[in-house]
Amino acid sequence: MTPSIVSEDVAAIAEALGPEPDAVLEEMHDRAEREGFPHVGPTVGGWLALLARLVDAERAFEFGSGFGYSAYWIARELPTDGEVVLTEVDEDELDLAAEYFASAGLAQRARFVHGDALETVDRVDGPFDLVVIDNEKDRYRAAFDAVRPKVASGGVVLADNAVTAGHVDAAAVRAVLAGERRPGATDASRGIGEYLARVREDDDFTSALLPLGEGVCVSVRR
Ligand SMILES: C[S@@+](CC[C@H](N)C(=O)[O-])C[C@H]1O[C@@H](n2cnc3c(N)ncnc32)[C@H](O)[C@@H]1O
Repeated sequence: MTPSIVSEDVAAIAEALGPEPDAVLEEMHDRAEREGFPHVGPTVGGWLALLARLVDAERAFEFGSGFGYSAYWIARELPTDGEVVLTEVDEDELDLAAEYFASAGLAQRARFVHGDALETVDRVDGPFDLVVIDNEKDRYRAAFDAVRPKVASGGVVLADNAVTAGHVDAAAVRAVLAGERRPGATDASRGIGEYLARVREDDDFTSALLPLGEGVCVSVRR
């Protein structure tokens, strides 16, 4: 697992402060730790919940949902007739997500779509109040461009791994964001750098880094 970019103290205080996970989230977190699955973790999960509240989210879309950990944090905050769209290329992961949501009575607030998220987003109606980008790092910019017309005014787009991840190197991300050529950069590092440059240059959005977990880029539509 990629280590968090924050100290143990910061992560512990953030977790202790809340929002509090429920028993199902705890179980999902244990699974991720046990299997080395790259979920966003509780500190970022708490911020997903907070942001969903801040924007009064009714509809959300996620690029890359795994077994539903991050989407679950959002689903808890939605109204009973709200919906989070989970997308996943791995059908087994998505089935697991559906089981977790059902066990918590949250299935009515979720749509589980198997397949490439960048194709799925074209088939699902917006607007979305909250979007999470957590698919392949070299396709983040394409994901943003695909969902952009469907982001509600005042809506928020979060991109995980804005600083680090398995194949993402922060120094390379910085260089790409500064417009430097970086021949040795991985596709993932280049993808993140290009994503950050893309949202920074978008006049309709204001973006800032949330320095928790592996770094989250938060962009709000004006
Ligand atoms: C880093 S994991 C995070 C899962 C989830 N967001 C969480 O934090 O719990 C990313 C997931 O995205 C899936 N994925 C990658 N590219 C995808 C794509 N183009 N469409 C749908 N799912 C994708 C992977 O299979 C993996 O399960």
